[in-house]
Amino acid sequence: MVAARPEAPLRKATAADVHFLDYLQERHAHEVGYLPRRALEYYCEKGQVWLALENGAPAGYLLGQDRYYKRSDVGIIFQACIQYDARRRLLGTLLVEAYIASLPPGVKQVCLWCARDIEANLFWQSMGFTPAAVRAGSRSKGRVHVFWARRVGTPSAQVDASECAPSLWVPGETRGGLMRELRPVRVLAPGDDWEHVTPPPPAQPRSAAVTPASTVAPDAERAPAPSAGPALQRIVATGSPWLLPPGMIRIAVGGCLRLVPRPPNPK
Ligand SMILES: CC(C)(COP(=O)(O)OP(=O)(O)OC[C@H]1O[C@@H](n2cnc3c(N)ncnc32)[C@H](O)[C@@H]1OP(=O)(O)O)[C@@H](O)C(=O)NCCC(=O)NCCS
Repeated sequence: MVAARPEAPLRKATAADVHFLDYLQERHAHEVGYLPRRALEYYCEKGQVWLALENGAPAGYLLGQDRYYKRSDVGIIFQACIQYDARRRLLGTLLVEAYIASLPPGVKQVCLWCARDIEANLFWQSMGFTPAAVRAGSRSKGRVHVFWARRVGTPSAQVDASECAPSLWVPGETRGGLMRELRPVRVLAPGDDWEHVTPPPPAQPRSAAVTPASTVAPDAERAPAPSAGPALQRIVATGSPWLLPPGMIRIAVGGCLRLVPRPPNPK
């Protein structure tokens, strides 16, 4: 086991780090999904991205938020990624703890969605998170997402292994940010096996006129290059600034919702 390195440096990412963030998320899109560079810039400007450094150079990052579904008592981690050759040296642990330590006192729980078929689930488990629910991922990928949650203020080493999902807040449904399908969430009951339990099927696709919202799913669809051409079938307005970075819009392209930079207004 590698010894803890409390001196390992962390800092907030800035716009100058977006190239690194984009590079790393691209390499690990299967695990962390994909956010447009513009969104990464926005989150850096808002101070929501923490960088882990090795020998002074970025080696990983965490992108989180201090509210989820307008709940000021729930924080969410959108992305966490350590570059391959820096893993298992507790950088991920340091990032998660730094994010939690930064949360306002009103936040009582942190959570995230993680695709069930990746090793990172074991990381969240070791960090004291509890699998609390599952949902179906996008139809095209057929994956399952696990909702991991942890009470804030409970050191991971002291988490009661008997803690069960009902004591944690779970969204009743999600609309998957970059995917248009509303997805019901199945709360795990005591004794449910998160690795095998079947999620509810996605609800029938809704009209894109329904306001999409919320989180960036771990397997969020890749955003296309910005385009203002005929492919923009419909522009969907959303209201919550923390859900939609400024200058970004959601558009329906080929039956999917995408997050892209807002095209210039027609003269
Ligand atoms: C998940 C991830 C962020 C973990 O970062 P990390 O810096 O390697 O994690 P840590 O060194 O802090 O690990 C702490 C503990 O978590 C557990 N853990 C971490 N990675 C694990 C893995 N791949 N398999 C099993 N357990 C793991 C271990 O118990 C580990 O302690 P140990 O090394 O003493 O056994 C990193 O593996 C990663 O970036 N993966 C690709 C992207 C990804 O999957 N992100 C999460 C999407 S939800």
